[in-house]
Amino acid sequence: MACALVRGGHEILSNVIATQTEIHRPFNGVFPELASRRHVDLLIPTLRAALEEARVNPTDIDLVAATQGPGLIGALLVGFNAAKALAYGWNRPFIAVNHVEAHLYAAMMPLSHPPFPSLGLVISGGHTFLSRLDGITSHSLLSTTRDDAVGEAFDKVASLLSLPYPGGPEIEILARQGNIRRFPFKAGSVKGDPLAFSFSGLKTNVLYTLRALPSPLSSQDKADLAASFQETALNDLVDKTLLAAQQQGCSTLFCGGGVSSNQHLRTLFSQKTPLQIHYPPPRLSLDNAAMIAGLGAIQFEEQGNGSPLDTTPFTRSPPKPARAGTRQI
Ligand code: KG4
Ligand code: ZN
Repeated sequence: MACALVRGGHEILSNVIATQTEIHRPFNGVFPELASRRHVDLLIPTLRAALEEARVNPTDIDLVAATQGPGLIGALLVGFNAAKALAYGWNRPFIAVNHVEAHLYAAMMPLSHPPFPSLGLVISGGHTFLSRLDGITSHSLLSTTRDDAVGEAFDKVASLLSLPYPGGPEIEILARQGNIRRFPFKAGSVKGDPLAFSFSGLKTNVLYTLRALPSPLSSQDKADLAASFQETALNDLVDKTLLAAQQQGCSTLFCGGGVSSNQHLRTLFSQKTPLQIHYPPPRLSLDNAAMIAGLGAIQFEEQGNGSPLDTTPFTRSPPKPARAGTRQI
């Protein structure tokens, strides 16, 4: 659960994140029912903390924005309906914000005039989206994953290596001690769709390799598995993004979502591509409410009106009309 106050789409007055990692750790991933119930518990304290930190009264608030999806429906229903109730009670407009678009906006938020056309890459526990951006709110999907999201693959491989959830940061740290060439893993590719991602075969590859090693795993074997896996997954992201940039004639990339905080990914991008890359500032890479409030303010400015109060959340994005040869997020 997260709540933020933002002025004018760019200035963050408060950005409170009430993490639930501890309750999900025993399950090696987010347990949806627990997440929904925890959202109910955390809602009011998080809202209060965000108002206090920003030193703002509800009467000073002009607009209420909330995540509409894609995401886990139970948690979305709690936050989205609470935000609609606040907008109704405070008699302010309400704006529904797309979670994936907001991860990209997190990387644009510090810029007053982000350049377009650009590429957008959202890499998190639930999403792997590569898109063309023709404006802050104009996205055309170029490719996504056919199976696991890249962050999910990090979490699953971490669990195979008995590392705690969330696994991405643990793998990144362990990989520093490992040999990236010890295990020649391959990321998935899809015939006829060179930009498509696939990470479930890679994860299975790690599993079979691990089973063939002496048990219990030595700490060097663990580190080598982490390093070889991470190198393969991250190079796949970098190579496919570079190919998309060449195809689309884009020289700028906005990169968001939890996996974008991986420092080795950032090194690979700068070594292997000429792209001008914008990442979210600290505190905006992982799920947060400042990116939702910020994008909500921009959408309201562009649309000139709010979303209807009977708008409902969604698990996956509904289809929208797309540019030829592309799909919408
Ligand atoms: O954006 P996010 O907070 O939530 C979703 O919308 O999913 O991303 C969380 C995901 C988790 O899978 C986590 O393991 C991964 O981001 N992650 C990382 C790193 N930090 C977080 N993956 C690789 N390297 C990291 N440093
Ligand atoms: Zn997210």
